[in-house]
Amino acid sequence: MAAKFEITVPRIKLGSQGLEVSAQGLGCMGMPAFYGPPKPEPDMIKLIHHAIHSGITFLDTSDMYGPHTNEILLGKALKEGMRNKVELATKFGIWFANGNWEIRGDPVYVREACEASLKRLDINCIDLYYQHRIDTRVPIEVTMGELKKLVEEGKIRYIGLSEASASTIRRAHAVHPVTAVQLEWSLWTRDVEEEIIPTCRELGIGIVAYSPLGRGFFSSGAKVVDSLTEGDFRKFLPRFQPENLEHNKTLFDRVNEMATRKGCTPSQLALAWVHHQGNDVCPIPGTTKIANFNDNIVALAVKLTPEEMVELETIAAADAVMGDRYMSGFSTWQNSDTPPLSA
Ligand code: ATR
Repeated sequence: MAAKFEITVPRIKLGSQGLEVSAQGLGCMGMPAFYGPPKPEPDMIKLIHHAIHSGITFLDTSDMYGPHTNEILLGKALKEGMRNKVELATKFGIWFANGNWEIRGDPVYVREACEASLKRLDINCIDLYYQHRIDTRVPIEVTMGELKKLVEEGKIRYIGLSEASASTIRRAHAVHPVTAVQLEWSLWTRDVEEEIIPTCRELGIGIVAYSPLGRGFFSSGAKVVDSLTEGDFRKFLPRFQPENLEHNKTLFDRVNEMATRKGCTPSQLALAWVHHQGNDVCPIPGTTKIANFNDNIVALAVKLTPEEMVELETIAAADAVMGDRYMSGFSTWQNSDTPPLSA
């Protein structure tokens, strides 16, 4: 077990428009849904306050977490002087109606979604507003045009994209500067390194890494599935299926073995690897437990030598992972290109 000590959380610049955030964020998706049943509200508020007091001030939510209930929870947690201590990111683009969901990026929806999020969060302005998934029916320039208006009106401060391809990022950035791109980046998801990360860097866009712990896989390995309750999203993900886990567990065992040698936890090692990608990268590990939060924050103090980075990357070579990260048909950066503006 890693030693416990006070961590001073560094601040980093995200993008080129002035946004500054804590070098590690807090992913809030697991609080209301996806990873088991909704967690008790008072406990989650306690966790959010603990994060803020610890220096983790970059909070990540979405209107579709719940849906809606996580934004309401954050709205409650950010009362009494807390709002100005955080950088609050939320997202739009996944619309629920009659039990079905649809991806929407048309201007009417963008505006409605933003106004609804502001109401639920009970704030006047969202610090970072992401398009959660790209609507491939709407030219990205059209969606960005409405987001630009929201910036001009003071309803959002900065614009982000999530699960966007390199060409979508480039086209969006030509309409209005994109401050951050959120993408899945971890020891077992490295395909973004080829084109998307270099594009972000070329354009001066900050990178926010979600699922940096492989949705808990790098915390407890194959055992993670033993504790999954009914409806846990991971029950459906290819990488967590028994036939793939049987292969993937070796990856965890090797990361865990290296962590033991280094005197840290496997979660800390997996997170430290993301932190070492550069100070334009902010991982946002998700947790619903103060103990796990305390484990994760220590990753900021784990130093990796270039040789250790190579060792980790050798362990996490492409053939170490079996199974896609999502079920087929899911919207990801691989299928996020939008029609040309003139079409
Ligand atoms: P996401 O971005 O999708 O939330 P993640 O950050 O890669 O994914 O991993 C989140 C999962 O890892 C959650 O199931 C979380 O469980 P808890 O809510 O019970 O903490 C788990 N997790 C996060 N940090 C952990 C830690 N230090 N030890 C064990 N499990 C951890």
